[in-house]
Parts: sequence; C-alpha cells; structure tokens
Amino acid sequence: MSSSPRPQVIETVAGMRDVVAHEREAGRTIALTPTLGALHAGHVAHVERAAELADVRIVSIFVNPTQFGANEDLDKYPRTMDDDLELLGEMGVPYVFAPSVEEMYPKGPTSTTISAGQVGTMFEGKTRAGHFDGVLTVVAKLLAITTPQFVTFGQKDAQQLFLVRRMITDLNIPVRMEIIETVRDDDGLALSSRNQFLDASQREAATILSTALKAATSAADSGLDAVIAAAQGALMGESRAELDYFSVVNTETFTPVPDGFRGPATAIVAARVGDTRLIDNSSLYVG
Ligand code: PAF
Repeated sequence: MSSSPRPQVIETVAGMRDVVAHEREAGRTIALTPTLGALHAGHVAHVERAAELADVRIVSIFVNPTQFGANEDLDKYPRTMDDDLELLGEMGVPYVFAPSVEEMYPKGPTSTTISAGQVGTMFEGKTRAGHFDGVLTVVAKLLAITTPQFVTFGQKDAQQLFLVRRMITDLNIPVRMEIIETVRDDDGLALSSRNQFLDASQREAATILSTALKAATSAADSGLDAVIAAAQGALMGESRAELDYFSVVNTETFTPVPDGFRGPATAIVAARVGDTRLIDNSSLYVG
C-alpha cells in the first residue's frame, strides 16, 4: 500500500476551471495528459514528460462514449480508477479530471462536433465510423476546460496524433503538443490498455505487429515494394492475427504514398487478435 497522497479528483467542469484559474493566478504552467484511464507504463512516460514541461500536471480520465461505435467495447473498456489514482499519486500528479458522461455531455452528444475530415474516415476511421470526430470533439472540450500550455499525445496512435495536431493548427488552439514515443514490452509489443484482453497465445501472436514493422523498416532501403512485401510476408505467417490493414503513409498528409515513393514515411498496421483490435506504427525512410 503506497503512502503517497492521491491526486485531487475533480469531477465537474466548474471545479476544474477553478483549479486552473488558481494555478494560473499563481503563475504556474499546466500540462494536460488526456487518457481513457486503465493506465500503464505508456501513460507513465506521458506523465513523466509532462513534469519536465510544466509546473502543474493534470491527467484527465474519461472513457469518452462518443468515440466508441455502437458495436464497440465501451462497456468492456477497462476501468481501473483506484489503481490509476494510486499510480498517479506515486508520480506526484496533483490533479485528475474525471468527469461523468453527464457532466461532459449534459444534453447528450454535442450538436456541435469537430469533423476529422477525409483522413478521419480512413484506416481506423474506416472500421470505426465517427471515432475520430468523437476524439477531436472531446479533446477540444478537454483543452477548453483545462487551457493547458502543453498537451501530451502518444506516437502509438499515429492517426489520432496526426488529426489532433491538425486540429490544433487549423483552429489556432494555443497549446503545444508534445509527442511521446511508444513504450514497448521486451518482445516489442506496444503497450495498450487493450493488451490485458489477450490470453497467453494471443499475447504471443500480437507481437506480429511490431515484427512486421521491423521487417518493413529493415527493407526500406530497397524501396516501397520491398517494404510492403516484407510486412505482408511477416503478417501472413501468423494465422492467429487477422490483418485489417498495413499501409505506408505520407507523414505530412497521412494518406498512402504513391508507387515509387522515396522519402520519410510512416508504416501503419492494424490487426485483430481474438476479439482485440491492435494497432502499431513505425517511421521509416523509403530509399
Ligand atoms: O487516446 C486516448 O486515450 C483517447 O482517444 C483520448 C485522446 C483521451 C480522447 O478520449
């Protein structure tokens, strides 16, 4: 049992605004780490970096229903508030913003939403209609409520990162986004709250995502076709993983690079292992 004081949990928008006003009056800078909870070592990296960036850290824990589709795992999504608060207390985080759904959406889903545009309908957005509109809308709300100077986002969710960054630019939101590198287990699997749904065999199969990305990166000097062949070869060798997509996208536009492309890009992959959908990505230079 830890003896660290737990963060102050703020459940209302008005309460959060009061705290922010108090900290700002005292001249302190704020960094926000938005999360869905079920915190793991990946989130720890965010919170550690936030401590270097700003005087005060706020972690939001909100399982946002508007980013889950009708047939998705909203009810199943892991909720571990007690453990999360313990961990954040150990890390010295002073404030957790943990509003209820009613507090965030008092009249139901907002009539005003932020559209993620065409890129929001590709890749993750193709199988999860409306997902990125839900993400962008809740991130905009969280930024408006906490008005941080810094916000942390993980490289692991590359498409989300791209879309949030574009929203911040497009809407002139006065916040600096800090990108946090993906944290991996020793065997390469990217940490995700969803990994806890994998049984032992599925957990083993799940490493195919990072293995395929490694194969793709190693083949990058030989050109785009070699990258795709290397990744597909690896993925086809793991029958327990059902591939959704593998693609090489332009880092600036998040759209697939054309045939013969050379230059910096991001390889992205998504696969279903059992009932669990996993994603990963890697940057590479296609030669
Ligand atoms: O990546 C997540 O955890 C969520 O999409 C976010 C950014 C907290 C919005 O609900």
